[in-house]
Amino acid sequence: MTDLKGRDLKGIADFSKEEIEFTLEVAKQLKRELKMGKPHRLLEGKSLGGIFETPSTRTSVSFETAMMQLGGHMLWLDQHRLWVGEAAEEDWHDTIKTLSRYLDGIAYRAVRRDRVESAAEYADIPLINASCPVEHPCQAFADVMTMMEKKGPVRNAKVALLWGYRSANPPAGLTNSTMLMAGKLGFDLAIAFPEGFEPDMEIKKAADTEAKLSGGSINLVHSYEEAAREADFISIYSWVSPAVFAKGLETHFQGDPEFQKKKDTLKDEWRVDAKTVGMAKKDAMVMHCLPVARNDEVTDEVLNSPQSIIFDEAENRLHTEKAILALLMGGYR
Ligand code: CP
Repeated sequence: MTDLKGRDLKGIADFSKEEIEFTLEVAKQLKRELKMGKPHRLLEGKSLGGIFETPSTRTSVSFETAMMQLGGHMLWLDQHRLWVGEAAEEDWHDTIKTLSRYLDGIAYRAVRRDRVESAAEYADIPLINASCPVEHPCQAFADVMTMMEKKGPVRNAKVALLWGYRSANPPAGLTNSTMLMAGKLGFDLAIAFPEGFEPDMEIKKAADTEAKLSGGSINLVHSYEEAAREADFISIYSWVSPAVFAKGLETHFQGDPEFQKKKDTLKDEWRVDAKTVGMAKKDAMVMHCLPVARNDEVTDEVLNSPQSIIFDEAENRLHTEKAILALLMGGYR
């Protein structure tokens, strides 16, 4: 049996193809057991620290519920609870080393990738990246589980990831993790985005290397039609390039008027609507990790259509995170 006890999940590259597949199998089993009402208290008495540096609905609630269903619990740790943040910064490594003496694992949503890396280095317990600007591995796990449930094995499935306009400027974390997942599991990923909104090209290179082994592919294009043609799944997301994001968090949270003005010219061209979905296979399914900017990124008509599986995707955050927690924190036998 694959043993992941004590390991970290900082990004998709931390797991092999076999380890990803095994985790998804465990998620399927735990979902089945939950639906049957069969208890699976694999982390009885264990504590997870949920450190959240930005707001979160799905990730925070799914991790907390996951721990409760596994027989443990999660402590919500933000800047109001810890000696971190602008007002009172304790040495970050002292915080992490202290938490390691109380807790059995940490789920960390960070404003910077290097904080995830250093937390993992200093923690003596498993560290799970609960999203940072460079990767959102937990979302990528839930997305793949959802695709498998709907259409079977994902190898050679055609997935279109379409950039949609929104006024906020999220980083490319999910796009990057999806590229790596395509490389590991061998699906054909076409990503459509406007010039200047490219994902992380170093990660693209790493994903291409994996794709050579798995038989998958990652193509970057600049039109919906090229990406969506004959797709099995259409996933919508909005991001800015790493170069834009790296200019500073002001850009992300407050907006840069010049950048925003240019970006606003993309508003009508880069909205997914029923015509876009019509370019894909007849039985194509529509995904979005949520939260979504309705009628900016994608129309209500598409989000509310029978082809939309956005809430199945949200639900699977719970089941995949339960598997990740049970495996990394050593409860799964
Ligand atoms: N998809 C996702 O990570 O949602 P939250 O930001 O609400 O956690």
